[in-house]
Amino acid sequence: MKAVTVNTTKAKAAATAVVVGHSKQKLPTALTAIASKMAKDDLGSPQVVHTNNQVFILLKPKDKPELVGGEAWRVMGDELMKSLRSQLLASCSVVVGGKQCDVQSLVEGIVVGDYQFTACRSGKAAKRKKITVHIPGYAKEVKAGTQVGDCQNLAREVCDLPGNLMHPTAFVKRAKKEMQGLGITIKVIQGEAACRKANFPGLAQVGQAGAQPPALLEMHYKPRGKKSKNSYAMVGKGITFDSGGISLKPGAGMWKMKGDMGGAAAVLGAMKLIALQKPGVAVSGYCALAENMPDTKAQRPGDIYQARNGKYIHVDNTDAEGRLVLSDVLTYACEKKPTHLVDAATLTGACLVALGSSIAAVMGNNDKWVQQVRDAGQDVGEELWPLPLYSGYRKLLDHPHADINNIGGKYAGTITAGIFLSEFIGKNVKWAHCDIAGPAMMGGSWRYYDEGNTGFAVRTFAQLAQCLSK
Ligand code: BES
Ligand code: ZN
Ligand code: ZN
Repeated sequence: MKAVTVNTTKAKAAATAVVVGHSKQKLPTALTAIASKMAKDDLGSPQVVHTNNQVFILLKPKDKPELVGGEAWRVMGDELMKSLRSQLLASCSVVVGGKQCDVQSLVEGIVVGDYQFTACRSGKAAKRKKITVHIPGYAKEVKAGTQVGDCQNLAREVCDLPGNLMHPTAFVKRAKKEMQGLGITIKVIQGEAACRKANFPGLAQVGQAGAQPPALLEMHYKPRGKKSKNSYAMVGKGITFDSGGISLKPGAGMWKMKGDMGGAAAVLGAMKLIALQKPGVAVSGYCALAENMPDTKAQRPGDIYQARNGKYIHVDNTDAEGRLVLSDVLTYACEKKPTHLVDAATLTGACLVALGSSIAAVMGNNDKWVQQVRDAGQDVGEELWPLPLYSGYRKLLDHPHADINNIGGKYAGTITAGIFLSEFIGKNVKWAHCDIAGPAMMGGSWRYYDEGNTGFAVRTFAQLAQCLSK
C-alpha cells in the first residue's frame, strides 16, 4: 500500500522542509546558523529543528561524484520521508526553488524511498501512516516524479512478492490489471503446450516442471500523432522462482530467487510508465515467465532441444535457465523488426563478481546503442557499464553433441551468457543486453532502497523510449 501522496497545494503542514542552497525564503534566525553550517558541509543532511512551535527539516543534496542523474535529489527525498516517519509527522510542505533544483527527482526519491513491502503483513504492521507532502509551484515535476516512482515500485512489488503468490499466471493477471485503460494491447501465450505450439521451446523446457505453467506476455504501445521512424522492443527475464531446477541451488539464501524476475518486472514497470508518458515511438514489451523447479517432469542436464531459430541447445546446467527462456523470445521480438532492442535479466552471479551490487553490465551488437543505453541510465541515476562480447570466447560455449552449450565454464560468466543470447538476435536489429543481477536486488539498504528488490532499469528503459521518440 502506498502511504505517501505528493501534491502542489499550499496547505498548512505539520512540518516545513527547506532545501538549503535552493530556496530564497528567509529562515527563522534559529535556523540560519544551522543552514550555513550545512552549506559548508560542517553539518550533514537532514537536520530536524524544533523552533517557534514549528518543525523544520533542513535538507541538502549531497555532493558526491557518484550521485549523478538526480540521485542526490532522490536520496534527499528518502531522507525527508525517513525524518517525517521517525518524527510521526503526517504532512510537510517543501520550500525549494531556483534553476539548479531537480524537483522531479526529489519526488521520485520520496515515492521510491517510502516504499515498503507490506503485502504480507498483518495487524499493525500492515497499516502505515499516510503522509502528504506539498510542493507548491511544481505541478509538472510532481506528476512526472510520482508516475516514475509508482511504476518503479510496481516492479519492486512483483519481485518482492514470493513465488507462491507471484508466479507466471499471477504476473499476467497483474499486468492486465495495471495496464487497464492505458491503451496497451496485450497478448498472452500460456501453458507448456501453448508455448511449444507457438514455438517457444525454451519457455516450455524451463517451465515444464512448474506447478504454474510458463507464459509469454506481450504488451504493445502505439503512439498517436507524430511518430518516430524508430521502433523499440524490451524483453525481460521473468523467472518467478529460480530453484536451479535439477541443478539445484544451495539452500542458504535461495529465497532471494523469488526476485529472479527483475528483468520482466522492469519491462512491466517501464511499459506502464511509457503508457503514461506517451512518447512518440512504438514500443513492445515481452516478459518471458516461468518457474524453474526440480520435478520428475523437469528438464535434465544433458537434454538437447531445438530453439526457435533452429539452433540445437545443450542444457548442461538447468540453473542457467534465464538464457533459455530469453533466447526464443529475443528471436521472436526480432521477427517483428524493431530498430532497437534491449533486454534486462538477473542473469548471472558472475555479474556481481565483476561489477558488484550497484552496477549493471551492458553489452550488445552495436556500440552506439550500447552507449545510448548507458547514457540513458546515467541521465536517470542508474549505473550500467559495458562489457565486451569478445568473439574469442564463443568457443567456451562449444559442445560435442549440439550447436551451443548453455554454460561457458568458470570465467567470464557474464560475457559468455551475453554471447549465448547474441546467437538468437535477428539481423539488422540493434540490441543491448543488461545483466541486472547486482542492482536489481539489494542485500541491505543503499541510497533510497531498503533490503529487497529495486525495480532497476524501469527508469532507464522508459528514458530510452524518450530518446528514440526524437
Ligand atoms: N538467477 C541466477 C543468477 C543470479 C545469481 C541472479 C545471483 C542474482 C543473484 C541465474 O539463473 C543462475 O543461476 N545463473 C548461474 C549460471 C551458471 C550455472 C552458469 C550462476 O550465476 O551461477
Ligand atoms: Zn538459475
Ligand atoms: Zn535465474
